[in-house]
Amino acid sequence: MSSVVVIGTQWGDEGKGKVVDIYTEDADYITRFQGGNNAGHTLIVDGKKYIFHLLPSGILHKTKRCLIGNGLVVNPKVLIQEIEALAKSGHDLTPERLGISPNAHVIMPYHEAIDIVRDEAKGNKKIGTTGRGIGPCYEDKVKRTGIRMQDLMDKDLLTEKVEFNLKEKNFLLKGMYNTEPFDPEPVVNEYLTYGERFSGFITNISLELNHAIAEGKNLLFEGAQGTHLDIDHGTYPFVTSSNTLAGNVLAGVGMGPSNIDFVIGIAKAYTTRVGGGPFPTELFDETSVHLQKKGAEFGSTTGRPRRCGWLDILTLKNAKRLNGISGLVITKLDVLTGLKTIKIATAYKYKGGIIDEMPTTLKVIEESEIIYEEFPGWDDDITGVRNLSDLPVNARKYLDKIEELINCPITMVSVGPGREETIILTNPFA
Ligand code: IMP
Repeated sequence: MSSVVVIGTQWGDEGKGKVVDIYTEDADYITRFQGGNNAGHTLIVDGKKYIFHLLPSGILHKTKRCLIGNGLVVNPKVLIQEIEALAKSGHDLTPERLGISPNAHVIMPYHEAIDIVRDEAKGNKKIGTTGRGIGPCYEDKVKRTGIRMQDLMDKDLLTEKVEFNLKEKNFLLKGMYNTEPFDPEPVVNEYLTYGERFSGFITNISLELNHAIAEGKNLLFEGAQGTHLDIDHGTYPFVTSSNTLAGNVLAGVGMGPSNIDFVIGIAKAYTTRVGGGPFPTELFDETSVHLQKKGAEFGSTTGRPRRCGWLDILTLKNAKRLNGISGLVITKLDVLTGLKTIKIATAYKYKGGIIDEMPTTLKVIEESEIIYEEFPGWDDDITGVRNLSDLPVNARKYLDKIEELINCPITMVSVGPGREETIILTNPFA
């Protein structure tokens, strides 16, 4: 039995979906534990592209069980869309294949509306949220007025909660943001239909996973977003509203710490970020254009162009410590092909002093000068490479340097978007 957690080490979009899909081969259960449909996990299987926002990326493996933990915020409309899209590709998602925690919170239409108008109102201080209602839904959870999946099956409770919540939300929407308020009745009626739709999928995830552990099953946990979007440890306030770290698997599904065996950190061979906030190694030149074009760096949830820059060792070291990372997966190495020189940020310089750990203060991150090490690039197409030894020597040296600087073994290298375009070095389930 093994439990493996997959976590993004940067600001999300590291390529976690593909890695989870590959590791699913050895897993019995694939579980998401935080976030919502702000995530966009892209998979290319047999030349067909799939993007999942809520469903775990293991969902294409027909014999595996996928779970949505209590730590998520679920938009039932998006879940229905994903289930229907999969049905068209021959994947019938019955309750045998998908389970949803009764305690997961529900994203309501007023959460989406507030998310959009409130971020807009921040002007040049805006976070650049995905506008999916994630923050406002987590706020209601913490405020203890949130609506949970189980509430969608209780007409009286749902009516009471929606009416109570809308008194405050409508005051905000109308009084403060001058937008349309919501009438409770149609909202309740619509969400009761989602309750009917999903009642068969509701299951005690904590109980199920703990039984699975006792039976010696292999568990895979899929992180969304990335370490530096974590609400506590990220570049606050330019973060998402959940804890994105490996530690949150425990609270997000209901499991004890002794059950985690291996934490895989996913790092793109360079760095990207969507939305606002500091990005020390961001580029604004032709290299940024190269990375954006070749890496197809456009948000899979919002379609926004992603900001691009060099790999930053401080972020990776920070992620290693915060998550207890045991092995590193480097993705999109092929995107660097064709660059004459490749740089890695190895330290920051602030007010004359050298910093080699990620600063905890935004001001220091924003005002630091970045110290880079330079490496010669390579021109050979590497998408067909399946063994480390067949990579161009400069690509190997780049990977060796990353391993050395972070002091963490690389377990997999992705050299293209397809499932098969991968160099597998170690199996965390072995
Ligand atoms: P929210 O999660 O929609 O509230 O957005 C907060 C910040 O996190 C914004 O900068 C988003 O662009 C970013 N973000 C949220 N989810 C993802 C993701 O899956 N990948 C990359 N960035 C994300």
